[in-house]
Amino acid sequence: MSKQPIYEGKAKQIFETEHQDELLVYFKDDATAFNGLKKGTIINKGVFNNKISTFFFKLLGENGIPHHLVKTISDREMLVKRLTIVPVEVVVRNIAAGSLAKRIGWEEGKKMPSTVVELYYKNDDLGDPLVNDYHIKAMGIATEEQVATMEKYALQINNILSDYLAAKKIELIDFKLEFGVYKGEIILGDEISPDTCRFWDSETHEKLDKDRFRRDLGNVEDAYKEVLYRLTGESL
Ligand code: TMP
Repeated sequence: MSKQPIYEGKAKQIFETEHQDELLVYFKDDATAFNGLKKGTIINKGVFNNKISTFFFKLLGENGIPHHLVKTISDREMLVKRLTIVPVEVVVRNIAAGSLAKRIGWEEGKKMPSTVVELYYKNDDLGDPLVNDYHIKAMGIATEEQVATMEKYALQINNILSDYLAAKKIELIDFKLEFGVYKGEIILGDEISPDTCRFWDSETHEKLDKDRFRRDLGNVEDAYKEVLYRLTGESL
């Protein structure tokens, strides 16, 4: 395994492995918000996110969603299939929150009569702008068929995760997915964790996700810890 990452993002490092079509993902404790303007550390976030993502990828795999996880190899490392990343972030929303609540002028927590799917162009220099399928087609970053596949998976994933989390007394408010192409097929990549989802306690509506960091709400580590515990029973 090479020592230098071939790519370093805000929360993860990516390394090549001896297998050409597999990569190693290392989950860091670094946390950023507002496109990197706010920086910090969430102690053991890398461990929590690796374990929580592993749990969700396995759950989704059992339910027929193709994903990149090959094997989880340590507390902070997973082996994944090498995808050609599609530079589109797919966001699914069940309850209005965050940027949607702001854009439409809805109160955070408003139940929406139907699920909302949004597409963002993954580009840090532009601050990941909201785009639609026409923009994506015109930019040539994904085909219409690929967009349709990503949206179909995103809605299936929403059903699987929402149902599972509801049984653990967690409400899935919204989440972000990234996909890539592997051997010609769209498959789920990246991570699914409190960094990339909004989780609210079903009874108290307490936030159990990265909004605690973004908004300086305190007890950030405890939120990640609680999500892992409710999903797997594991205490760190
Ligand atoms: P938003 O309301 O800020 O647009 O976020 C929607 C969802 O996407 C939320 O669950 C958090 C997640 N998200 C990311 O995973 N990465 C990001 O950079 C942002 C802005 C949001």
